[in-house]
Amino acid sequence: MVNAVSPTSAIDRGLTGYADEGFSRFLRRAFLSSAGLDAEDLGRPIVGIAHTISDYVTCHRDMPQLVDAIERGILEAGGMPFSFPVLGLGEPLLTPTAMVYRNLAAIAVEELVRAQPMDSVVLVGGCDKTVPAQLMGAVSAGRPAIACVSGSMYAGRWQGERIGACTDCRRTWARHRAGEIEGDELGAIQAELCPTAGTCMVMGTASTMACVTEALGLMLPGGATPQAPSAARLGHGTATGRAAVALAGGAPAPGELLSAGSFRNAFIVLAAIGGSTNAVIHLTAVARRAGLPVDLDFVAAAFADVPLLVDLKPTGNHFMEHFHADGGVPMLMKELAPLLDGSARTVEGGTVADRIAAVARSPRPGGAIATLAEPLGGPGSLTVLRGSLAPAGALIKSAAASPELLRHAGRAVVFDSPEDAARRLDDPGLEVEPGDVLVLRNAGPVRGMPEAGSMPIPRRLAEAGVKDMVRVSDARMSGTSYGTVVLHCSPEAAVGGPLALVRDGDEIELDVAAGRIDLRVEDRELEARRAEWAPEPPAERGWRRLLGERVVGADLGADLDFLA
Ligand code: FES
Repeated sequence: MVNAVSPTSAIDRGLTGYADEGFSRFLRRAFLSSAGLDAEDLGRPIVGIAHTISDYVTCHRDMPQLVDAIERGILEAGGMPFSFPVLGLGEPLLTPTAMVYRNLAAIAVEELVRAQPMDSVVLVGGCDKTVPAQLMGAVSAGRPAIACVSGSMYAGRWQGERIGACTDCRRTWARHRAGEIEGDELGAIQAELCPTAGTCMVMGTASTMACVTEALGLMLPGGATPQAPSAARLGHGTATGRAAVALAGGAPAPGELLSAGSFRNAFIVLAAIGGSTNAVIHLTAVARRAGLPVDLDFVAAAFADVPLLVDLKPTGNHFMEHFHADGGVPMLMKELAPLLDGSARTVEGGTVADRIAAVARSPRPGGAIATLAEPLGGPGSLTVLRGSLAPAGALIKSAAASPELLRHAGRAVVFDSPEDAARRLDDPGLEVEPGDVLVLRNAGPVRGMPEAGSMPIPRRLAEAGVKDMVRVSDARMSGTSYGTVVLHCSPEAAVGGPLALVRDGDEIELDVAAGRIDLRVEDRELEARRAEWAPEPPAERGWRRLLGERVVGADLGADLDFLA
């Protein structure tokens, strides 16, 4: 009966508050009947699909097809799908950065998964901040959940070379700034950088978050790497839909499934893929939502013995399609097996050891995945730093840095904000030399944490052929970026961290092998500067004000203090 009032399924969970439960059920089913749903439909397991479809997120432009595939899987397995939008966040179309809205999106996921009736939920994200927001929200919501990402783009082609977003965006722009590429050629390359639907096809933040979500066990094996337009992506969506129905029978929620071992595995995979530095912040935030004491010491310990095994841009040569063809995350985890915690549980009801046992050990010959016996680089592709400039920690992607700059001392050239840097970096009168250290501050979590840390080489030096300089900030950088860039200095300048006290001409010393980033200024002088320092006023209103007042440091995941 369409208008049945007896509670028979999850659809009766969390009733609307009319102070009359019978009426609430009656009314709910009356409205559901307007969608053609009857008692048979509503007696099935209810599976929510939290998607991030938005015209502003071009990386998700074919997500409607993927949601269709997930719905098909749910229906095949006897469930009833209910798709709903959560915040879609597209990095290139948000100011100053999608990171400002990651926690807001996490709130939207948590609240909508909890407030709407569903037995389990499929999280459909892709572009950088959508996946971490969904994981954070799902952990807090406490419902069984499974992740499915949109998948990456295929790479483009330019004059016989494979190119793609956004490592080659940055490389092309750097060559343009150096006066090497102009006009039509620049436009022609621009047209090939994002040639299909999907997320950035290098090991940027989206690809990294897909890989570490699979490593956490919250995605079916093999789900991180199929390309967005591929049949494999749709097939994975359908399989995910079927799996979500199985979860509806009372499977553990992500917060119960995930353990310290799950996160250690994810950080090991992160180091082996030479993944995005952003993933350290995101995984830390997810772990702390799950009540696990993950901090930069935990991260550094997980990274300690992990060599670089995956040859993808920006640290290597290949794209996600090559990683997928070589076996993707399952093959990588098979190779990493001696380092991993096999007892960590996975969403399909088994363990990481079960997954590894199911993979035949035969690395395919594409060259995207190396072996532990012959890695692409030693441990340290990502390195946690500490020192007088970052007492609570900082991070550098050593694998994407210039080897000769990994130990370097230089004179600080300070920019007070990303806007200040944008204004002055191209000034021909800027006093800067190739051996200087570019310092950017007031770009940490309180200020929204834009991806400004890999600020460009000053134009005068770029035109003279300088390709890299040591850059230090409390900002993030895109996972697709490269260079000798020290990020996430904590505490950040906006709360009075040491970065706030640096002045032009101070000596800064970076020693990656020693895990140090230091400001060589006398304590007494720093105390005098601190006495003169005053915080800037917070944002006036709305979400930016709440974020500025309650966000915690990057070292703790940059979540809101009352949500972690
Ligand atoms: Fe969306 Fe790179 S901009 S994944």
